[in-house]
Amino acid sequence: MKLVVATGNRHKLKEIREILKDFEVISAAEAGFFGEVEETGETFLDNALLKARAVSRATHLPALGDDSGLCVDGLGGAPAVYSARFSRMFAPADWTAEGDDDARNRAFLLYKMQGMADRSAHFCCTLALCFPDGRELTAEGRTFGRILTEERGEGGFGYDPLFFSDDLQKTFGEADEEEKNSVSHRGRALRRLKELL
Ligand code: IMP
Repeated sequence: MKLVVATGNRHKLKEIREILKDFEVISAAEAGFFGEVEETGETFLDNALLKARAVSRATHLPALGDDSGLCVDGLGGAPAVYSARFSRMFAPADWTAEGDDDARNRAFLLYKMQGMADRSAHFCCTLALCFPDGRELTAEGRTFGRILTEERGEGGFGYDPLFFSDDLQKTFGEADEEEKNSVSHRGRALRRLKELL
């Protein structure tokens, strides 16, 4: 079965291809979809559905939308759906940090969690698979751990070097791809979706 993934994120596309090996996974661009779907939802599910529906409608193919993020207990579950835009949306004007969005988000997270004793957190991923005939399947995966006070490891992306995984007993930044996929929120959600399929 051909399946379009509604993401431009090459890390995610790679993880999805590795787990859904039985499917012909193509990117939105490969299916001729170059639009940007705005993530205006307040939940991971809202955003996953927004993306999958838009791409399925435009390409007339089954489309997989995902939304994911980091939820930190001591921050009331934030940054959640704002994980990718955390520092851009919430950092005060006088706060500065070097680097790309991911590096700045990690720096801002450490800044927000200064002196915080409860550092427990989880990643969440929600997937929505929408078919051109209107059928929809959804699946969710979570992975638990804690936020360190400094980065460890250079692998992965986003918050990976700060996230110490309960399952792996090291950060996602220190894990190789296979290890991360075996316990990650996205890995778990994808395996659940595969079972549903
Ligand atoms: P999305 O592309 O809207 O799903 O944004 C997800 C954001 O959450 C990313 O930009 C990262 O900041 C964070 N995130 C989601 N999954 C992961 C992961 O596996 N590792 C590290 N950060 C992640």
